[in-house]
Amino acid sequence: MRDDVTEPNPQQCLVEMTGGALVTHAIFTATELGVADALADGPKTADELAAAVDAQPDALFRLLRMLAGFGVFAHADDGQFALTPMSECLRRDHPSGLRDYVRMSGHELARAWVELPHAVRTGDRAFDRAFGKPFFDYLRDHPDRARVFDGAMTAVHGSESVPMIEAYDFSRFETIVDVGGGNGSMLVELLRRVDGPRGVVFDLDDVAEHAATLLEGSDCAARATAVGGDFFTRVPAGADCYLLRHIVHDWDDDRSVTILANCREAMADDGRVLVVEGVVPPGGTPHPSKILDLIMLTVPGGRERTAEEYDALFARAGLRIERIIPTASPISIVEGARA
Ligand SMILES: C[S@@+](CC[C@H](N)C(=O)[O-])C[C@H]1O[C@@H](n2cnc3c(N)ncnc32)[C@H](O)[C@@H]1O
Repeated sequence: MRDDVTEPNPQQCLVEMTGGALVTHAIFTATELGVADALADGPKTADELAAAVDAQPDALFRLLRMLAGFGVFAHADDGQFALTPMSECLRRDHPSGLRDYVRMSGHELARAWVELPHAVRTGDRAFDRAFGKPFFDYLRDHPDRARVFDGAMTAVHGSESVPMIEAYDFSRFETIVDVGGGNGSMLVELLRRVDGPRGVVFDLDDVAEHAATLLEGSDCAARATAVGGDFFTRVPAGADCYLLRHIVHDWDDDRSVTILANCREAMADDGRVLVVEGVVPPGGTPHPSKILDLIMLTVPGGRERTAEEYDALFARAGLRIERIIPTASPISIVEGARA
């Protein structure tokens, strides 16, 4: 047995994990200040950066020195700070949109998480306690934060689009309705890669308006439209595919059944409802869906589900699960047809 390998010290592990919240807030603060943009044209000292981003030089130095320890910025021996591959992603013009995800994490998510003890004691939504209203009502009342949320969704879920498109034959459909399709970026990716189907982004009125602008400016404009509405009331009728990526997990079982039943009601006879999100594996296997599940508990009040839980949900909506298709990302495609 090697004697140079020491077991992790449980106390130290807990101290480090508990400090994770501070790392979140430090990355958030650097992002809110726009440090990555200020470093775009080359390395700078903390004094130069402080003047550029309107911060107190010593406090900014200490923030960036700490983040350099995590590789978020580089701290050279001459005292200058520079971008790293991580902080490149925090620039305003970076295509990943990660800046929006950090801005949402440090504000809406972090404030909701402060109320996690309340959520676990009562099962109530932590977000509502922190912000005084449900998450999607809050976004409706704060259009600027709704745009941040859209960007954050593209940043965290955008990389799941290609694995999803590669795992399923979407060319068999005439019309795909992307239910709760957000800014439309997933539909554009899908239509670019799959010849044939037409696409509809369906989302709340103001979100759909924003998606329409993106679709019009895309090379898929002739095959794509955006429609506004409320999926608890109805979804556009007559399509043969209703795609719901990261939608059902936002809601409790009763609300989820209403959305699925509205899709069933609207779809063509041989249509399919595709629920695309994580399927929680049984037992103690670690899986990203088990982390996302706590975001669902605290923010919109939904949940990630096991295969058995999807089975029960689909059955209540008059649907039958045909297949659960894994993808090369943590999400799966749960394919439903009329029961
Ligand atoms: C978690 S996001 C998922 C966005 C996108 N499908 C993706 O995978 O990135 C949930 C979406 O549901 C939309 N939404 C929430 N409530 C809605 C409602 N009542 N009717 C229609 N869309 C709604 C939100 O505006 C948002 O775009």
